[in-house]
Amino acid sequence: ELQEQHQLMDLHRDAASFYFKCLKKRGNAGARYLAGRGWSIETIKRFGLGYAPDQWDALCRYMSTRGYSNELLEKAGLAILSEKVTGNKRHYDRFRNRAMFPIFDIRGNVVAFGGRILTPEGTPKYLNSPETLLFNKRHLLYGLNIARTHLRQHTLILVEGYTDVITLHENGFQNAVATLGTSLTPDHARLAEKTAKRVILCFDGDQAGEQAAQRSIRIFRHTEVEVKILTLPHKTDPDQYVKEKGAEAFEQLLQKAPTAVEYQISLIRRRHSLATVEGKVHFAREASDVLKQIKSMVEREAYAARVAEEIGVSKASFMEELQQGKRSYE
Ligand code: GTP
Ligand code: MN
Ligand code: MN
Ligand code: MN
Ligand code: MN
Repeated sequence: ELQEQHQLMDLHRDAASFYFKCLKKRGNAGARYLAGRGWSIETIKRFGLGYAPDQWDALCRYMSTRGYSNELLEKAGLAILSEKVTGNKRHYDRFRNRAMFPIFDIRGNVVAFGGRILTPEGTPKYLNSPETLLFNKRHLLYGLNIARTHLRQHTLILVEGYTDVITLHENGFQNAVATLGTSLTPDHARLAEKTAKRVILCFDGDQAGEQAAQRSIRIFRHTEVEVKILTLPHKTDPDQYVKEKGAEAFEQLLQKAPTAVEYQISLIRRRHSLATVEGKVHFAREASDVLKQIKSMVEREAYAARVAEEIGVSKASFMEELQQGKRSYE
């Protein structure tokens, strides 16, 4: 198995270099696509980006000249066996006419690929390698091989997509990492905990991004990681935001990012009017449910004082609310 792992790593490294070389072919759509995203040559090289040609078996043919069998390519998930009615078994490339993003493990070995369609429409937008001996997306964070040696203030920035990581890196935020199109798992959270003290969640500014933030906060509760939440304007993601507003503006958002507790309380506040007694009561109850989750008493009391002040009651009476056990809301 170890030997097969080695073979698969060699294979992925060679495939990545093939896709990279394909960018150099005159007038190819892949190079045009990557240039259109505004990434520099250095960035493209650093992330080993490439292009899978618009042919059925360009990779298979190239790899066979390097001594790799189609069966091994199939094991790596880069080739697919077509069983035609003719009984004619042939392998063809999984990735065709796509911009290619090698996926690195924590040591920097290529273990899989993501391929993006070149047009704005069309599905699937991203195609990923299947899970293999080398690749388990539930415990791999894209960009961690670089981010772990470029932490800023012991902090990781967690984003949704490859392209967010790449643009952030290019703009000096080399501590950005992404999950690979899955929601955050406990394995991801533990990996982050091993690497950093703090994680700033920076998901897309949409409903899905907000839900992902809520879910991720719950998962991080089982770790010692301090979580902050950076909310982007509606319908933007970190890549678009930094390209439109610049690194300085993004830095401001990072600085201002509320803690998970502040964020959750602000969501509750949004649902209630503090102008009415009833609104205040509901706000107080729901906020106290959030504060009950805080392990540190000092931290809990500090937030309690703030909430009390906000609704205009004494800290003592809000603490009483907090001390009550779980109650049923009418
Ligand atoms: P761009 O449109 O290229 O900027 O990509 P994005 O990173 O902004 O993509 P999006 O926000 O739509 O999705 C976030 C991440 O989810 C992507 O980076 C992918 O990892 C994953 N993803 C998105 N669409 C698909 C899809 O069609 N199939 C799969 N398997 N994953 C996807
Ligand atoms: Mn999204
Ligand atoms: Mn999307
Ligand atoms: Mn995007
Ligand atoms: Mn996005």
